[in-house]
Amino acid sequence: MMINRCWAMPNHKTFEIKPIKDLLNRFVKNRSVWIDPFANNSSIAKITNDINPKCKTKYHLDAYEFSKTIKGMFEGVLFDPPYSVHQTNQMYEGYGLRKQASIIMDEIAKKIKKGGYAISFGWNSNGFGKKRGFMIIEILLVAHGGSHNDTIIIVEKKVSTASPITSATPTLAEPKEFNMGDKVTPSASPKDASHPSHHPNIKLNSQVLLQARQ
Ligand SMILES: C[S@@+](CC[C@H](N)C(=O)[O-])C[C@H]1O[C@@H](n2cnc3c(N)ncnc32)[C@H](O)[C@@H]1O
Repeated sequence: MMINRCWAMPNHKTFEIKPIKDLLNRFVKNRSVWIDPFANNSSIAKITNDINPKCKTKYHLDAYEFSKTIKGMFEGVLFDPPYSVHQTNQMYEGYGLRKQASIIMDEIAKKIKKGGYAISFGWNSNGFGKKRGFMIIEILLVAHGGSHNDTIIIVEKKVSTASPITSATPTLAEPKEFNMGDKVTPSASPKDASHPSHHPNIKLNSQVLLQARQ
């Protein structure tokens, strides 16, 4: 995995920041098979959406609706939602996320071809992640000086077409912490049919939890 850091002036039009533009030029080859659910006025991808009707995009849907209704399999996605409520109000006329980014990612992940890309922008390095079939291949940190947060760009390749485990799937409770003197009641045995390990979804998630902890 390649990690680079550089400095550039901040810009609410993310894709006009020079090192970001350069990175996009390396990955986005055939624009007509790339989607951009939060495009603003960018035309780097051809299939563009923005909830703000003033933006020059093909669609003006909430990103979740867009991700559910868009038909086809795509080469890549540019995932650049507003990073904070402050940014939403200051830069994007009050238009912000209406649903969790994770459920939008769940939908989009299913529509990216194996070997395709997800390029995510924000203040964290989570990206689409292993559970949706992606592997990080490149990270770019763009520092902006002063008290600005860096823009973190995560480039991921789709390596597996396994159907993603949706965010709505039940997960195992976090292990409890015990202190000296606490009364401990034994939990159900794995041999017991009601034990969580017998539930198919939970089994799947415990594997994911194990993977995540490795
Ligand atoms: C960070 S900007 C994208 C900037 C763009 N990548 C560029 O380089 O110019 C985020 C965009 O998401 C749009 N947006 C906010 N909430 C949205 C939503 N729920 N669905 C779709 N678009 C939304 C905003 O209107 C804004 O234009």
